[in-house]
Amino acid sequence: MRLRLAVSVLAVCAALSGCGKKDDTAGLPPPLSDAEKVTLIASLPEPFHSADLANGESRFAACKSCHSVERGGKNLTGPNLYGVFGRRAGSKKGYEYSEAVEHAGFAWDAEHLEGWLSGPRTYLKGTKMSFSGLKDPKDRTDLIVYLMTVTGYRTPGMPVPAAP
Ligand code: HEC
Repeated sequence: MRLRLAVSVLAVCAALSGCGKKDDTAGLPPPLSDAEKVTLIASLPEPFHSADLANGESRFAACKSCHSVERGGKNLTGPNLYGVFGRRAGSKKGYEYSEAVEHAGFAWDAEHLEGWLSGPRTYLKGTKMSFSGLKDPKDRTDLIVYLMTVTGYRTPGMPVPAAP
């Protein structure tokens, strides 16, 4: 009886990734393999389908000083972005957001990122992200798809392998 309780407490701890254990990767999907990246891009609608990943990666240079994208990577000036797609805005654990982002009330997807990256400070007034925005829509598209490929995003049809 007591053993069973202990086992279920452990299961809850694992599910909530809490209970004093520091594991920043708990609940995060594994990184995409190259084959998964191809499947992902193939399944995206236009204009994302024909995104230029190399340009997206170059655009990400403008974000790098404030954001890491690696699975389990540190929060810098801005929060780590691994797993950002589908994540509620302002909800990365251990990061202190502005009220504007914390209470944005949506989960990040391509559409919200498109608005955010064209001008963060007009998109969510009061944000502390000091970045003026990417003016060229093609740059935003390319960066969004690049972010998908490096933050573990899988389209709804793609199976998510067990995390390592
Ligand atoms: C000068 C630092 C800085 C730069 C450059 C920057 N960011 Fe940010 N970013 C932040 C900060 C700070 C926040 C938290 C904003 C808040 O709480 O108001 C943030 C928040 C975000 C969020 C919301 C994350 C969440 O968990 O809700 C996304 C997405 C994001 N940034 C993407 C980007 C991308 C993509 C770029 C590059 C085009 C970029 N940022 C450039 C500092 C920066």
